[in-house]
Amino acid sequence: MKLLVTGGAGFIGSNFIHYWLRKYPKDKIVNLDALTYAGNLENLKDVESNPNYKFVKGDICDKDLVNELVKDVDVIVNFAAESHVDRSILDAENFVRTNVLGTYTLLEAAKNNGNKRFHHISTDEVFGHLGPNDPAFNELTPYEPRSPYSASKAASDHLVRAYFHTFGLPVTISNCSNNYGPFMFPEKIIPLFITNLMEGKKVPVYGDGMNVRDWLFVEDHCQAIDLILQKGKIGETYCIGGNSEKPNIEITKKIIELMGKSEDMIEYVKDRLGHDRRYAIDFSKIKNELGWEPQVSFEEGLKKTVEWYKNNESWWKNIKTGDYKEYYKKQYGK
Ligand code: NAD
Ligand code: TYD
Repeated sequence: MKLLVTGGAGFIGSNFIHYWLRKYPKDKIVNLDALTYAGNLENLKDVESNPNYKFVKGDICDKDLVNELVKDVDVIVNFAAESHVDRSILDAENFVRTNVLGTYTLLEAAKNNGNKRFHHISTDEVFGHLGPNDPAFNELTPYEPRSPYSASKAASDHLVRAYFHTFGLPVTISNCSNNYGPFMFPEKIIPLFITNLMEGKKVPVYGDGMNVRDWLFVEDHCQAIDLILQKGKIGETYCIGGNSEKPNIEITKKIIELMGKSEDMIEYVKDRLGHDRRYAIDFSKIKNELGWEPQVSFEEGLKKTVEWYKNNESWWKNIKTGDYKEYYKKQYGK
């Protein structure tokens, strides 16, 4: 099988490429990534000389490039996106462009090149947010996005579904809860807090720290995508979750404990605008139909993640200082 993976230089995409080449060494992967601030070829250093892996620097909104690449593959897995809620609050333009126009451009290319198999990576945030006693989101929950990020992802999901109903494009969608693990950009809560503590900085907890997220170790997400690609029913959506709902303050204290630091490092700061209160996922469909469930407990995954950031200090230090942009230029001439 030959896959076009978009956004493969980001957090989940790079973990997926490692996962796939390990599990299916005969398959070929083309990674199309624009290398925005979140894309980092360092994430893929150990596969860059693999003859079954090819990197193409480019934009998913580039119609001609996308069309050329799609011609030559069997499957498209779309990870490319602007992914950080706080950035979407500051400026949503790139979110609309990449997440909506970019997904549309990929769908058009898939349709115009023999209806290629298309899997779209989405988020639980499209469903809005929950009160403390509301039932968890599932595949039938109405869409009610509340941030520019989640609204742009919701729009992309609608387009993907529309291409199934209108053109018979063989699509699937997965809506996953918060991921964590190696190669996660240190602007999201878990890697930001781990690296801040390593730098002796405080950890900024938004609002009262009682916002709840459901957490999934990234490797488990990759496994779920694999199963959907192999056995998922065309036209369907699958909700993926970690069975691990935690308020932010609990995670913060757990990280502090694992790193042997003091809770004095916690700093409560101004809340995020429109801050979604709680996400939770009911993943019975993928469990019952495809036999997937998370393998890594939050405790185990968080320990592994803390270890990874401790062992890969230069990776995140380069990012936090911006040096890695210079490194690209030297290393890859781009
Ligand atoms: P990320 O921000 O780490 O990576 C995004 C990647 O997309 C980067 O490599 C970036 O360079 C690339 N990209 C951005 N714009 C592009 C464009 N126009 N053309 C080509 N490449 C472009 O994101 P992530 O956390 O790895 O998320 C991947 C996907 O998973 C996203 O679609 C996101 O919505 C979804 N998702 C993320 C989470 C999470 O917790 N991180 C949870 C559920 C779903
Ligand atoms: P984040 O990692 O940005 O993911 P998302 O907003 O997509 O869920 O944030 C996770 C939670 O952590 C969210 O409730 C906001 C909160 N948060 C903080 O309290 N402090 C921070 O510095 C960040 C980045 C997030």
